[in-house]
Amino acid sequence: MTPDELKEIVTQEQQIEHTREHHICVCTAAGCVSSNSLHVKDALAKEVKKRGLADKCQVKGVGCLGLCAQGPLVHMREEDRLYKKVVPEDAPEILDSLGAPPVQRLECPTNIPFFQRQMRVVLENFWKIDPERIQDYIAADGYSALVNALTELSPIDIINEIIHSGLRGRGGAGYPTGLKWSTVSKAVGDVKYVICNADEGDPGAFMDRSILESDPHRVLEGMAIAAYAVGASEGYIYVRAEYPLAIKRLRNAIKQAERSGFLGQSIGGARFNLHLDVRLGAGAFVCGEETALIASVEGKRGTPRPRPPYPAQQGLWGRPTLINNVETYANIPSILRRGAEWYASIGTEKSKGTKVFALAGQVNNTGLIEVPMGMTLREIVFDIGGGIPNGKQYKAVQTGGPSGGCIPEEFLDLKVDYESLSQIGSIMGSGGMIVMDDSSNMVDVARYFMEFCQSESCGKCVPCRVGTVHMHNLLDKILRKEATRKDLSMLEKLCGIVKGASLCGLGQTAPNPVLSTLRYFREEYEVNIADGEIAAVCAQCPDEKEGEKR
Ligand SMILES: Cc1cc2nc3c(=O)[nH]c(=O)nc-3n(C[C@H](O)[C@H](O)[C@H](O)COP(=O)(O)O)c2cc1C
Ligand code: SF4
Repeated sequence: MTPDELKEIVTQEQQIEHTREHHICVCTAAGCVSSNSLHVKDALAKEVKKRGLADKCQVKGVGCLGLCAQGPLVHMREEDRLYKKVVPEDAPEILDSLGAPPVQRLECPTNIPFFQRQMRVVLENFWKIDPERIQDYIAADGYSALVNALTELSPIDIINEIIHSGLRGRGGAGYPTGLKWSTVSKAVGDVKYVICNADEGDPGAFMDRSILESDPHRVLEGMAIAAYAVGASEGYIYVRAEYPLAIKRLRNAIKQAERSGFLGQSIGGARFNLHLDVRLGAGAFVCGEETALIASVEGKRGTPRPRPPYPAQQGLWGRPTLINNVETYANIPSILRRGAEWYASIGTEKSKGTKVFALAGQVNNTGLIEVPMGMTLREIVFDIGGGIPNGKQYKAVQTGGPSGGCIPEEFLDLKVDYESLSQIGSIMGSGGMIVMDDSSNMVDVARYFMEFCQSESCGKCVPCRVGTVHMHNLLDKILRKEATRKDLSMLEKLCGIVKGASLCGLGQTAPNPVLSTLRYFREEYEVNIADGEIAAVCAQCPDEKEGEKR
């Protein structure tokens, strides 16, 4: 598609939009769909038809509106009015409120910090577009970055732009994206591949799922730009099979992009071909690790292998392969449209841009948020999150999932970026953020994550396979108040061994939740140990035993 053809679609879509006086946008991402939003959408559409308003009022499905726990959510665009927990029977009242006072019972204010303090870059289209219509994406400036890249920029220009933007991979490790692209572009291979990692196995994380459900073309456009920049002509999106809606929308988007000439042969009239396909993962956390993912796409058992060689040199079927996360690709169209300087002006010195988080746990406003890097934890939890419910006190926030750590109150003013989080023993990870109140038991939290790691360990290397089981047993023993000081020091010793001797990131980071809770909440371990030691001594005391018999 040429730039002129793209402009024509934008004009047509804008004309259609302007003929409508009202837009009623219903969230059709998985959270709201699971609480019946598709029926709400149907009921609203029927009511519009019944009232003869079809020419004036459009009912449309859009992406995630953010406050997932309040769903189904409906946004009335012209009134900037958000309705929560809507049921199909509310349709007549909602239509009565067009250009009139709101239905107070359903109203959810939009002038609250939850919405106003966010900065939407990756999520910019979520409230606007129907994820199942490529025309909606194009009308929101979609595919203009790809067309511009193919007609105006050389691959090296694009890579330089991404390097200057300072974008770092959002899959967890924060590796500089431009540098990775540059390595793949320089690698020698008859074929090169691009892979999108949409495995998203961290408990509590749903950022990547929401992006794919809400704006799938954005990810495809990012992948196509990346493929052109590194010289790849084939690619895969690896999505866990538990994400059926994301898979459906992704497949639909691929077909639409092929029909419109954004994927396939001679894209944009250039000598650039790209074929993308979806591969389903069976829900194993370790398959998110890049070498395990590649093995899984090749049809082998998804277990990691030592690196080097890195996928950039020898990846899928031994060919140079670029592997990036969903959110990483979703940032690319914005960077190319608005420029590296604009992107680099957001965030902190070493962590640029925004980050999408799944805010969950003991916090008033749970849901999907996007904030500039460098926003403090206090601002995220208390301003955007609305604080801790039921009059309880903040205790910790867990970032980075099973590879991360628990951050206590003393670090609430910490700026959230890659360096700051790792300095205090946690990590950004892919963006799961679980808030805990003062009723949480931190040893139990550590045990939960260790249980996850032990069951997700692929078993290929002994430190992880045996170490995580042993650590889980010790944490269990501590919680049963049966552990001694010796058990605690064994637990600490194992943290070092498993971290240092495991083959892949799963084992190398599995001790992090234990280490961070030991660092900041040690007294909770100590209390259980003190009780446990008394119990152990008493169990061996002959008088006590006699006493018990009597
Ligand atoms: C156990 C484990 C699980 C991982 N799971 C994911 C995942 O679900 N999604 C993801 O993008 N990266 C995941 N990663 C990181 C990937 O290996 C890889 O670094 C990432 O996809 C690179 O993309 P990025 O540079 O855009 O971050 C995981 C790593 C490990 C060790
Ligand atoms: S660290 Fe764990 S998950 Fe990774 S290869 Fe070893 S056993 Fe498998």
